[in-house]
Amino acid sequence: MIAREVVDEILQRTDIESLISSYVSLKRAGSNLKGLCPFHSEKSPSFTVFPADNSFYCFGCGVGGNAITFVRQIEHMDYPDAVVYLGKRAGITVVQDNTRDTYQGKRIDKSRILKMNVDAAKYFHSCLFGKDAAAQNALRYFTEQRGLSIATIRHFGLGFAPDSFDAFGKHMRSLGYTYDELVTGFLCGKSERGTYYDAFRNRVMFPIIDVSGNVIAFGGRVMDDSKPKYKNSSDTPVFKKLRNLFALNYARHTCAESLILCEGYMDVIALHAAGFTNAVATLGTAITSDQARLMSRYTKRVIITYDADEAGQKAAVRAMGMLGDVGLEVSVLKIPDAKDPDEYIKKFGKDRFRSLIENSRSKFEYNMERILSKYHVEFPQEKINALVEIVELISGFYSEVERDVYIQAVSKQLDVPFASVKADVNRRVKQKNNRYMKEEAQKARQTAAGFSDKVNPDFAKAPSVAKSEENVIGLLVLFENHQKKVFEGELLAETDFYTELGRRVFSYLKQCYHEGVAPNFDENFSPEEVGRIARMKLSRMQLTENGDGVLAEAIESLKSAMQRKSAEGASTIDALSSLINRMRNSNDN
Ligand code: UTP
Ligand code: MN
Repeated sequence: MIAREVVDEILQRTDIESLISSYVSLKRAGSNLKGLCPFHSEKSPSFTVFPADNSFYCFGCGVGGNAITFVRQIEHMDYPDAVVYLGKRAGITVVQDNTRDTYQGKRIDKSRILKMNVDAAKYFHSCLFGKDAAAQNALRYFTEQRGLSIATIRHFGLGFAPDSFDAFGKHMRSLGYTYDELVTGFLCGKSERGTYYDAFRNRVMFPIIDVSGNVIAFGGRVMDDSKPKYKNSSDTPVFKKLRNLFALNYARHTCAESLILCEGYMDVIALHAAGFTNAVATLGTAITSDQARLMSRYTKRVIITYDADEAGQKAAVRAMGMLGDVGLEVSVLKIPDAKDPDEYIKKFGKDRFRSLIENSRSKFEYNMERILSKYHVEFPQEKINALVEIVELISGFYSEVERDVYIQAVSKQLDVPFASVKADVNRRVKQKNNRYMKEEAQKARQTAAGFSDKVNPDFAKAPSVAKSEENVIGLLVLFENHQKKVFEGELLAETDFYTELGRRVFSYLKQCYHEGVAPNFDENFSPEEVGRIARMKLSRMQLTENGDGVLAEAIESLKSAMQRKSAEGASTIDALSSLINRMRNSNDN
């Protein structure tokens, strides 16, 4: 629990315009600001910031709320973490009771798990510099087999987990950690017989550090060819694989222009050691849209340097799409005569790698080469087939200027008139836009009708009641004088609401009213629900007139919708019981 005064103070000191501007480029539109929504992909801006009441709302996907909601969504934080985050920004220290967090039903203390990880990293690191033969062997693995300097080993805090069932666990227990905590942090496991064992044994260790400098997880590699090559921490309360990148804690300082994205931990380490400190890697998984978005916050351009094998190249094509979708400029580096960047640098040196980067091909060039390698364009039919794919490729670029440049290149290279390629590309662009518009309209209609409504799943069961509920709640959130009338006059009760969400919002508003505090939706509702409440409020804001009549009418229509709904229920029951009676009678005969 965070004191309400503190939350209010933080919200007051937070300028939502400047907060959101650091994530989204906003343009003024009347008294509001608009930009491309960071939560769904869109081509024209429907994401709106309302400085007047420090709120935001996306008319495309329905996210909305205040600064806390925004941080919860964009940083994937829970409510208390989002408040602490904004507090830091506003220069307010928030005292938080961490012991209330739970994970898989157990109470956990995040800051304690983070401290435990630091102690674990220190242990692994010191084991690497031990005097015994096993430690020296591990150190030699890094220095001789992988060519790392002691400075690099220290820089990345690399370590060694000894070949013992419980040496690590015992050490951690001597520092006061319980086996429960060690298991929660994925550092120990529990056997079926109930004994505890170290999760990482006889592996060299790579600590994974987030951008705030916390050790959030570990990867451990075998030193020979046994399997699995790497073992990674599973998600823990402090670690979400799909939302972090290896070495971003270092890369973030030098990546304003470009980031190098690799597949492996060792690639990243080799690149940093060679001076390419803007290299990062995903953590043993294919890139996710969260990671793409994370990158887009730190850089403009991503150079993908995946392994040269087919799997690596396939993954590169996929990554290219993901990164392009969040507006990043992407190029792909093909590594000749080596399996990955690590091996390439060892074989040919860092200067050769630098010139590879300088000549890395753009998305267009990379794909163009891929298409041309498939066809024998000296034959007319093959050339036509290649052109179909090339037109598809070019039509995927948003900027017309960019498209024209590529059309020019193609028309020269394949000796076809510029105008005819251009005509084909234009047709394809138009088709794509039409389809996009249709899909958007379809989505909008479905949401309006309450189908596929994940935020308020009861909506579809009684759309007209749900709409009336939203109407009433919108008015209540927007106008305090209405609250007084409804709550003191007891004009409405929880039982007047059909949807679970409507009932919950109503009862929360009532509680706030009686306690004399303004509602703080983020503390009690999911960010998606907060967005829905923002929508209810916004749709009421367009009212020009707001007398008592509007409220009375809204309540009236809710009550009668509810009556119709229960009558519907009743008549079904009536019909059923008469059916049953008739069946009985016919059986009796
Ligand atoms: P690679 O097999 O390319 O590993 O997997 P690497 O980093 O180049 O390792 P070296 O050079 O052989 O030491 C790329 C990444 O995929 C994940 C790891 O994050 C690795 O860095 N991976 C790979 C796993 O998580 N588990 C595995 O068993 C293998
Ligand atoms: Mn490798």
